Amino acid sequence: GYEWADVAALGRDVAGRAVRVRGAAHAVRAVGRRVAFLVLRQGSSTVQCVVGGGGGGGGGGDAGVARFAAGLSRESVVDVAGVVSLPREPARGTTQQEVEIQVKKLYCISKATPNLPISVDDAARSEEDVAKAKAAGEQLVHVGQDKRLDFRVIDLRTPANQAIFRVQCEIENVSLASTRPKLIGGSSEGGAAVFKLDYNGQPACLAQSPQLHKQMAICGGFERVFEVGPVFRAEDSNTHRHLCEFVGLDMEMAIKDHYFEVCDVVDRLFVAMFDHLNKNCAKELEAMNRQYPFKPLSLHYQHFKFVQTNRLFISYLPKTLHIEYDEGIRMLKEAGVHVEAMGDLNTEAKKKLGELVQAKYDTDFYMLCRYPSAVRPFYTMPCSDDPRYSNSFDVFVRGEEIISGAQRVHVPEVLSRQAEARGIDVGSIAAYVDAFRYGAPPHGGFGVGLERVVMLFCGLGNIRKASLFPRDPRRLNP
Ligand code: 4AD
Repeated sequence: GYEWADVAALGRDVAGRAVRVRGAAHAVRAVGRRVAFLVLRQGSSTVQCVVGGGGGGGGGGDAGVARFAAGLSRESVVDVAGVVSLPREPARGTTQQEVEIQVKKLYCISKATPNLPISVDDAARSEEDVAKAKAAGEQLVHVGQDKRLDFRVIDLRTPANQAIFRVQCEIENVSLASTRPKLIGGSSEGGAAVFKLDYNGQPACLAQSPQLHKQMAICGGFERVFEVGPVFRAEDSNTHRHLCEFVGLDMEMAIKDHYFEVCDVVDRLFVAMFDHLNKNCAKELEAMNRQYPFKPLSLHYQHFKFVQTNRLFISYLPKTLHIEYDEGIRMLKEAGVHVEAMGDLNTEAKKKLGELVQAKYDTDFYMLCRYPSAVRPFYTMPCSDDPRYSNSFDVFVRGEEIISGAQRVHVPEVLSRQAEARGIDVGSIAAYVDAFRYGAPPHGGFGVGLERVVMLFCGLGNIRKASLFPRDPRRLNP
């Protein structure tokens, strides 16, 4: 009996065991006529399998099985059954297991075409590796991003990509969630950028965000709702940070006194998330770093004194750095950047402010609060002390936005007025506005772009790297 085993679990402790492993033929090399080395890959781990050489089948079968192994096309899915052994020379290469498998049986489960459009090794190279090789006169194939995305199922097999999506799953796991509908009657974030469709004769669209329905869930008596789900934006933005379909991590909660209660959840969620990633994904971050070198995120939290009066207990809670919009504008003006009074910040201004904050506070992660009402969506609650400003915030990593959040208007008349002022047809959101007529608690929440978090935490430079099958204005395939 050969027992199924995972490549990652093949260590010195299982030497001598009879195992069966399924993986991709990552590399094949014949040594003479009787032996072949087959590197089997599973996820981001590989193990060397020795085929023939007295280990396989016995007697005259060796040459046959070795020839069969040597003829396997790369990326074919194969099963090997054999005995785990300690190699004469320790394994090279960082992802290879320390042990080998002396193969007794070998089956090809799925044959890959011998003419692969790209190879995993080519796709796994960093630009630096390619440049170095070229400088040294070697011919290395450079696979550009478009080509990788065209053949994404192969590209996804590189160690960096395996690592990126492990990290993405870890982030999703931190957020327990249910979902809101994705087919809705109208736009939730403002006019133009929706994908329209026909819903049994009624005009409908793909949800731009779960915004309206997550608020309605709060009206339905839930104290807090979380969601991890797809979000659709028909915007024609060909940038490194926009997708037409991305994963939104959304939360909405009833609040008691202040929208800072929502900010507190952001603080706790992200402090815990970044700590978790740094602790549990060190290997993945290293794998990405080899192909896509990046500077680790510098995270400096403010430590607030938190006094629990009833127990005379003092602790220090980590908190994200909070800066007010006006303060941000002041910093930019001081640095000679032109910004419009009470206007939104453009990409360059955000980037610049990120650098100024980094220089002053030594953190790549901060929250900008109290935006002008005019630049926020219609459902945003104005500040009670000055309605030109709003109870809203954005969160930035390395000078790029990952979150936007706010307190919402829970008074139907104000909501209708603010929608009208922005040219929104109130009739099209009547059910939403009506939800606030039956008693609605003050509430707020935020939306996170999952791929943006992955891209910026890992310093990937392009959001397409953080999406399994990216959808951008030009790409609907594969
Ligand atoms: O800023 P947005 O549009 O805010 C909302 O959707 C609100 N309903 C959220 C809330 O609860 N107030 O989107 C939220 C986040 C952005 O901060 C950004 O990280 C990401 O979603 N995002 C995109 N990610 C990839 N591609 C796009 N086209 C994105 N647009 C927004």
